[in-house]
Amino acid sequence: MKLEIKNLTFKYKDQEIIKDLSLKIINKNFCSIIGQNQSGKSTLGKLIACLEKADSGSILLNNLEIKQEDVAIVFQNPQDQIVHFKVIDELAFVLENKNINKDDILKEINYYADLFKIKHLLNSFTFELSGGELQKIEIISSLFQKPRLLILDEATEMLDEAIKLDVINILKDYAHTKDCLILLITHDMNIAIESEHTILIDDGKVKAEGNYIQIFKQEKLLTDMKLEVPYIMRISKDCNLQFQTLKDFERYICQLKQKN
Ligand SMILES: Nc1ncnc2c1ncn2[C@@H]1O[C@H](COP(=O)(O)OP(=O)(O)OP(=O)(O)O)[C@@H](O)[C@H]1O
Ligand SMILES: [Mg+2]
Repeated sequence: MKLEIKNLTFKYKDQEIIKDLSLKIINKNFCSIIGQNQSGKSTLGKLIACLEKADSGSILLNNLEIKQEDVAIVFQNPQDQIVHFKVIDELAFVLENKNINKDDILKEINYYADLFKIKHLLNSFTFELSGGELQKIEIISSLFQKPRLLILDEATEMLDEAIKLDVINILKDYAHTKDCLILLITHDMNIAIESEHTILIDDGKVKAEGNYIQIFKQEKLLTDMKLEVPYIMRISKDCNLQFQTLKDFERYICQLKQKN
């Protein structure tokens, strides 16, 4: 998967929000977009999802101009995206529109409900669910769209830390097995560090991009941008070792336990 943005500019009324922004993501499946409030992250997400139209510049997916059908986007407030009363109907909706037969729809729903641990909610009403549960429903619905590019704009923020990490790991696997590019727009540096490639946006431009060494080991860069240092970085520093993901750290602890 290759996403290439060239010299993108965008204004809301007279205010320039995206300022000649260029970036390239090549052969990566799980990336994050970070930056302080009002830096233009959500606007960039909407431009990529074709929900806004750029004033100039281009967005190419695998060398072709990006189309709305290529992209699914999930926002922070799931209530705004839910359209059905019953959870199962909300989930079935996208699949029914794809002309999939009833048995296969149920199989697909059950598989993902199991994976995301929401099977017990399938017959509930959507208005009975918590924000975090609704976020899971919206994320599953977005996967059912089978997008080539999936944007999650603060879409896991209502989940508890441990559950959030589970969902991130499911999405990582999904992105790799289905060759989908997932772009995670987030304020949570503990989640952003789980990605393969991070893009730091500041004032409508790319301030920095790269892997966790190029972004998350740069404490000054993060604090200048008013972003927190992920706790796994602090653990790495304390242990004088290098972990990127919490899974790496857990593996290390397991090995220590086995040795003792
Ligand atoms: N619909 C709109 N009309 C006018 N201005 C807007 C609109 N949406 C966003 N803006 C402005 O664009 C700028 C960038 O907003 P954007 O939502 O893209 O930032 P963000 O980085 O996603 O911020 P946050 O971290 O708070 O979600 C802000 O100054 C905001 O006020
Ligand atoms: Mg935003």
